[in-house]
Amino acid sequence: MSLIVDRDRLFSEIDALASFSDAESPAVTRIVFTPTDLKARDWMKTRCAEAGLTVRQDAVGNIFARWNGSDPKAPVVGTGSHIDAIPNAGKFDGVVGVLGGLEAIRTLRQSGFRPRHSIELLIFTSEEPTRFGIGCLGSRLLTGALTPEAARKLRDKDDGTLDEVRRNAGCAGELDQVGLPQGYYKAFIELHIEQGPLLERQQTPLGIVTNIAAPASMRVMIEGSGGHAGGVLMPDRRDALCAAAELILAIENAARSSGAIDTVATVGICEVFPGAVNSIPSRVRLSVDVRDTNLERRDVVVRTIENEGDSIAERRQISIRSELLNADAPADCAPELVEALSQSCRKHELGFISMVSRAYHDSLFIARIAPVAMLFIPCRNGYSHRPDEYASPEDIARGVLVLAETLAALSQ
Ligand code: GLV
Ligand code: MN
Ligand code: MN
Repeated sequence: MSLIVDRDRLFSEIDALASFSDAESPAVTRIVFTPTDLKARDWMKTRCAEAGLTVRQDAVGNIFARWNGSDPKAPVVGTGSHIDAIPNAGKFDGVVGVLGGLEAIRTLRQSGFRPRHSIELLIFTSEEPTRFGIGCLGSRLLTGALTPEAARKLRDKDDGTLDEVRRNAGCAGELDQVGLPQGYYKAFIELHIEQGPLLERQQTPLGIVTNIAAPASMRVMIEGSGGHAGGVLMPDRRDALCAAAELILAIENAARSSGAIDTVATVGICEVFPGAVNSIPSRVRLSVDVRDTNLERRDVVVRTIENEGDSIAERRQISIRSELLNADAPADCAPELVEALSQSCRKHELGFISMVSRAYHDSLFIARIAPVAMLFIPCRNGYSHRPDEYASPEDIARGVLVLAETLAALSQ
């Protein structure tokens, strides 16, 4: 079997998909179920149909594009990722796993390979948490990590419920029908840019992920007392933003002093009310993201943040309430799939290292119902979630080649 990846076609498709964006190029903003995202989804469905795949969409908008194997009863070999993009992002996060997955399937078809197990490309809905505040919406529902009841309570910033928004986006059916059974997949492999600098620094073309770090996210509501920026004297103030500032530094310190380089914490959103230069902030809402490869250590940081909030609230005589939005467990990749990827790398004489995924991915949840593995390719300077995110056509093509080889091996 000779596998020839069409890297020019793939790179030009990555560019074409990036043109569906609500930000000016090179930035990409593609929030789930916006008109722009819907156009990108249609474009993707057309590419999949053109490749001869059978396309279906579930009630939350996960898109499945299947190449039927000779044994329709055999469990599916899956690959895929996401095409939604956070505000002011780049064009490779998620997309490399979707268009690269499609290219891997096209490469296999072209080579004359015929799978026994069906091979299915999965485009997950809303891996990014931008719209509904929780990441991996599609994969959580597929795997029961989020119940349909809990999903129905999700709202976007305009107070639209997930049910309203998805139906308006043309996703028919009920959320209760989204879940996939154990045994649906024989294996699931996600190709992704590394989103960190290690592969580039080590001048290694490929990373095989052995485990995926455990993310938690929190929302913190701080309520003090507003008033006139000139009239209220300093001793009388209960400024919510000053309390938030203290808490943000306490969060940074909690992660820095965990004793491990793998602990990270970020306050990515700070909303200030009323947001006027001459008005004392009365309310602040923070969004906090805490991650670690070790669940216990991650949870110590989460508890420290809650305790720091309590003591700042008491000292400043204001209210600080924190809500844990999700606290997911880390996932291990399946040793047999790690080995299958390693063998494909060896076969094509491509160097690789084992690595941890510090970003989360839909594979974290698919791991609850199936053996998963992830393949990383380098990205320039380790940049991701920014417009200058970049992966070279050569690196992407190497990832696709190893992915195709591995999908073939698993689907025989
Ligand atoms: C996914 O984009 C993440 O935040 O890790
Ligand atoms: Mn991302
Ligand atoms: Mn991603």
